[in-house]
Amino acid sequence: MDVKIRVMIPEKDIDSRIREIGGKISREYEGKALHIICILKGSVFFASELAKRITVPVTLDFMEVSSYGDNTVSSGHIKIKKDLAESIEGRHVLVIEDIIDTGKTLSFLMEMLKERKPASLKLCTLLDKPDRRTHPVDVDYVGFEIPDEFVVGYGLDYAQKYRNLPYIGVVENE
Ligand code: IMP
Ligand code: MG
Repeated sequence: MDVKIRVMIPEKDIDSRIREIGGKISREYEGKALHIICILKGSVFFASELAKRITVPVTLDFMEVSSYGDNTVSSGHIKIKKDLAESIEGRHVLVIEDIIDTGKTLSFLMEMLKERKPASLKLCTLLDKPDRRTHPVDVDYVGFEIPDEFVVGYGLDYAQKYRNLPYIGVVENE
C-alpha cells in the first residue's frame, strides 16, 4: 500500500512564517551577534532556512540530545549525544528546535545551558503542541501551534524517515 501523507502546513506557509520570524529576530537582536544552537537532527532544515533570514551576524553550533535512556523509559534527564563545539559564555544564544511536545527535552536542556552563563538565552521552535505539555518551557518564538497529531517533514521524522519533505504532514497509513 502506498503511504499517504496529508499536508498540514504547506511549504509556502512555512517559508513566509520563517521570513516573519527572521525579521522579528533581526530587529530584536539589532546591534548584537547571535549564536544559534541547532538541535540535531530535526532542527537542521528549519535552522538553515531561518538563519538565512536573519540579518545580524550569526554563528552556528550543534547539539544532539535525547530525553530517554536506552530502554525508552524516561530517565527524567536528558542524555547529551553530541555536545557543543564552543563555549556559550557571554554570548547571545538562540536555541532552535523542530517541535516542543511534552517539553521534557527542552526544559532540561535550557536549564543546563543557563548554567553555562550565556549573555542571553532564548528559544525558537518551528512547531508547538501545547496540549501535550507536561514540563513548562518558556518559548520566545513559535512558528506554528499545532493540534496533538504526530507530524513529519521539514526535519521531523517517523523512524528516521520523511525528514526531507518540504512541508509538514501527517502520515495516514504506515
Ligand atoms: P518533547 O516531548 O517536547 O521532549 O519532544 C521530544 C522530541 O520528540 C522532539 O524533539 C521530536 O524529536 C520528537 N517529537 C515530538 N512530537 C513529534 C511529532 O509529532 N513528530 C516527530 N517527532 C516528534
Ligand atoms: Mg525525533
